[in-house]
Amino acid sequence: MERLLTLDHVGMFYSHDKKDIVSIKDVSFHVNRDEFVSIIGPSGCGKSTIIKMILGLSKPTSGTIDYLGRRHNSSSGISVVFQSSALFPWLTVQENVELVLENLQKDRKVRGETARKYIRMIGLDGFEDAYPRELSGGMKQRVSLARALSTSPDVLLLDEPFSSLDVFAAQALREELLDLWENPNLPPRTVIMVTHNVDEAVQMSDRIVVLSHRPSVVKTEIAITLPRPRNTRSEEFYHTVDSVLTEMSN
Ligand SMILES: Nc1ncnc2c1ncn2[C@@H]1O[C@H](COP(=O)(O)OP(=O)(O)O)[C@@H](O)[C@H]1O
Ligand SMILES: [Mg+2]
Repeated sequence: MERLLTLDHVGMFYSHDKKDIVSIKDVSFHVNRDEFVSIIGPSGCGKSTIIKMILGLSKPTSGTIDYLGRRHNSSSGISVVFQSSALFPWLTVQENVELVLENLQKDRKVRGETARKYIRMIGLDGFEDAYPRELSGGMKQRVSLARALSTSPDVLLLDEPFSSLDVFAAQALREELLDLWENPNLPPRTVIMVTHNVDEAVQMSDRIVVLSHRPSVVKTEIAITLPRPRNTRSEEFYHTVDSVLTEMSN
């Protein structure tokens, strides 16, 4: 197993009114290649901050983040999908996806083909020329996912990507993402997902990192060994969710 990402005693504080507010106290965990790891914890415990640090958008005030054995300071090879889709409203679906490819692929034709491939893959065939306002929430989040995957990232970061969707759209997109992840020929290979939904974490992850309330520390790590595809209505599933809830409340 190749270790892709290591957070070692990561801490984060903000200065506010001359006082230091500790958001993350001491967080250590690692992510192996091809793993699906969820980070779960109460609101305000620093989950989004961790995503930003992994992206290289902000630096920990203590501790280190290593990516492929190197001190981490850029977001190359890492894509992200946030809770809200953050699409450019004046660009079509096709143009929104192509935009992230501009620096990676100089050939316009290849860029267009790559964008179309991922739009199709995520189930939006025929919507290439639609504008974001014409799409449902679930479809917009699909575009975000197509955009994130189109760069063939080594790591896909997800920050509560399903939490603004209705239950049906969320479940459909979870299943589609799992199908892509399980296909060895397609990105993403490695996924780090922030969530506060225990069922979702158990359905999707190989391992769950449980954070405490702010100032956060890692409370526990739980390996989920249920066979895939996971039946979210099976007895074993309920049992696993229950044991995760118990460990979280300890
Ligand atoms: N730029 C900032 N300045 C001051 N406080 C911040 C800043 N960004 C985040 N915080 C604080 O850090 C804590 C963690 O925030 P966040 O990472 O968004 O938590 P989560 O995603 O787990 O809900 C929160 O209490 C928030 O108020
Ligand atoms: Mg957050």
